[in-house]
Amino acid sequence: MITASMQKLLNAQLNREYSSSYAYLAMAAYAESLSLVGFAHWLRTQHREELEHALKFYEYIHAQNGRVTLAAITEPRAEYASIFEVFQKVLEHEQFITRSIHEVYAAAEAEKDYATKTFLGWFVSEQVEEEAAAQLMVDRLAMIGESKGSLLYLDKEARKRE
Ligand code: FEO
Repeated sequence: MITASMQKLLNAQLNREYSSSYAYLAMAAYAESLSLVGFAHWLRTQHREELEHALKFYEYIHAQNGRVTLAAITEPRAEYASIFEVFQKVLEHEQFITRSIHEVYAAAEAEKDYATKTFLGWFVSEQVEEEAAAQLMVDRLAMIGESKGSLLYLDKEARKRE
C-alpha cells in the first residue's frame, strides 16, 4: 500500500524514465547520422536500460496496489554540435535523474514508507553507476579534442558495451 502522494511521485519518476529512454534513442539516432555506430550502440543500450527502469516503477506501483498513469513524454532534442556535447548532456541528465530519485527517496523516508525506500535503494546505487559511466565518456571525449582517429577508436570501444 502506498499513499496517494507517493503514487504521484512514483508515476512522475516512471515518466522521467520513459523520457530518458526516448532522449537517449534520439541521441543514438544523431550518432547514427554521423556513422558513429559504437556510440549509437552505447546510447541504444542506455535507451533499453531506461525502459527497464520505467517498468520497475510500473511493477512496483501495481505490487503496492497503486495505479499507474502514463503522461506525455517530452519531445527529445534531435541535433547536437558533437558527440562530446551528447555525452555532456547524458551526464547532466543522469545528474538530474539522481536528484529526482533522491527526492522521492526523501519523501518515502518522511512518510516512513520503508517498502518504497527499499525499492528505491536499487535506483540510488544504479545512479552512482550511471553517472560514473557517463562521466567516463565525457572525460575520454574531452581528452581526445578534435582528433578524428581517436574519436573512431573511442567509437569502437563504445561498441563493446553490453
Ligand atoms: Fe534510469 Fe539513467 O536513470
